[in-house]
Amino acid sequence: MTQAYEIIDHEYDVVVVGGGGAGLRATFGMAQKGLRTACLSKVFPTRSHTVAAQGGISASLGNMGEDDWRWHMYDTVKGSDWLGDQDAIEYMVREAVPAIIELEHYGVPFSRTPEGKIYQRPFGGMTTEYGKGTAQRTCAAADRTGHAILHTLYQQALKHDAEFFVEYVVIDLIMDPEDGACRGVVAWDLTDGTIHRFRGKMTVMATGGYGRTYFSCTSAHTCTGDGNAMVLRAGLGLQDMEFIQFHPTGIYGAGCLITEGARGEGGYLTNSEGERFMERYAPSAKDLASRDVVARAMTIEIREGRGVGPEKDHIHLHLEHLEPAVLHQRLPGISDTAKIFAGVDLTKEPIPVLPTCHYNMGGIPTNYRTEVVTLTNGEPDTVVPGLMAIGEAACVSVHGANRLGSNSLLDLVVFGRAAANHCAEVVDPNEAHKPLAADAADFALDRFDRLRHADGGTPTAELRLEMQRAMQSNCAVFRTGEVLEEGCEKLAGIWAKRGDIKVSDRSMVWNSDLVETLELDNLLYQAVVAMHSASNRQESRGAHAREDFPDRDDENWMKHTIVWCGEDGKPRIDYRPVHMRPLTNEVQSFPPAKRVY
Ligand code: SIN
Repeated sequence: MTQAYEIIDHEYDVVVVGGGGAGLRATFGMAQKGLRTACLSKVFPTRSHTVAAQGGISASLGNMGEDDWRWHMYDTVKGSDWLGDQDAIEYMVREAVPAIIELEHYGVPFSRTPEGKIYQRPFGGMTTEYGKGTAQRTCAAADRTGHAILHTLYQQALKHDAEFFVEYVVIDLIMDPEDGACRGVVAWDLTDGTIHRFRGKMTVMATGGYGRTYFSCTSAHTCTGDGNAMVLRAGLGLQDMEFIQFHPTGIYGAGCLITEGARGEGGYLTNSEGERFMERYAPSAKDLASRDVVARAMTIEIREGRGVGPEKDHIHLHLEHLEPAVLHQRLPGISDTAKIFAGVDLTKEPIPVLPTCHYNMGGIPTNYRTEVVTLTNGEPDTVVPGLMAIGEAACVSVHGANRLGSNSLLDLVVFGRAAANHCAEVVDPNEAHKPLAADAADFALDRFDRLRHADGGTPTAELRLEMQRAMQSNCAVFRTGEVLEEGCEKLAGIWAKRGDIKVSDRSMVWNSDLVETLELDNLLYQAVVAMHSASNRQESRGAHAREDFPDRDDENWMKHTIVWCGEDGKPRIDYRPVHMRPLTNEVQSFPPAKRVY
């Protein structure tokens, strides 16, 4: 069947899959260093989900008060609930400062202080003096920071003549059975229906998260974990998939993001009694505690009957006490979002909000150089030749069990840059490509063709909704063994229906029915491994809150989960140790401690 597809071949030094913040930073960095680089994106790059990041990007610039990268490192380790790798965290927070200055020079229109420095706002869990004070560390372009950065990075990519393949859906990786190396990808050009084989001496996955496994999320419809699923299908494991972040302030009903910057600028949450309840849960940081802490507190308030609204099922976020000029200058985007999606004028009334799936801490395991690693014969950090991962698709792991707000844009930029630097060191533009077997595209094309001709009785949208409902109810802010077990069973039933999927459109040009089916297939892998990893981890840590195991258990569980999943939909789990040692001796390791805010 697959011989029916004519294949157009391409050869590049590096193939980057994904045109969001991480993908663009990597792509133009590589082009700048003289590597022939192709960036493949299923959407136009400036429509990638990075565009939706609002509040800012962290770096200890110290523009608004004293700051130190060591304080940023401590906050990130603590925020990760000691699951983050301290070597990678040190790398990220130190590189943050030059990376932001670089962004400024590239032209990112950051908001400014009266003296003309980059404006920085407080964000949750960001402190000074190792938890004593509140840091103003989050560099902002009003509340459209992701938008500003993404457009600037795209302009830089154009300036450096990077090559883009836009509206190309990558189907699968090309793996060499001889040495386990990645040799490139197979992709489908939506615009004319052609099939392409991209050979790369290095392939970089920058495919984002899998927020769309949930019914309510802040993620774009494109966030379907495509790269993660390709890695699983290549027989490699994913890391820490049970750690899924719920942003405290998604708009009730619509799920759209209201930035944490709103609380950074002085906003606060109340329950039905008008109480600022965060004072009870986090006496010191209050509304600016870490996201997992705030999301849990809101959920408890609602569960105990103190939610607002006729159904008592959400919480109020207040900004109406702030000066309209501040709202206009610092939070113009959410002023519009609140009006459009909640019908609220935030200068006059509170915004109805609810914790909403926002970010995936887990993903493709990498080291701080962004090389993909795997467990081989008990060796936890074996590098997979030819394959790298960056951004939300990757698990470096700098966020561990819980990411701090504004560390995500930072992760994209720092590790996108690291990927470019690493490729410049290891990829030789003059070296010939390794030979490819004649059937190298068959694995991808068999899957593509099977789904294209799927003629069962279950429409894609129906199965997707079933999966999203299962994730929403069985893998939520609070979890128990029983509920997760039930979730695993529900997903096993949904997985079984993959064989009964119905695709109505068989065409090759802009077949959105098939795109959505390929995406659903990718999402299902993510849902299954996330639910099983959550069911397996019998402790509470960061965003993973088990009511039946309410405490963190460092003795048994201070380790990364690695999960594999084959075509049978039955995951297998093993573990990697957490890197407790920092990268240099300029900072000491932060030993585990109780996490209070
Ligand atoms: C926000 O502005 O609250 C989202 C940014 C982030 O998740 O870091």
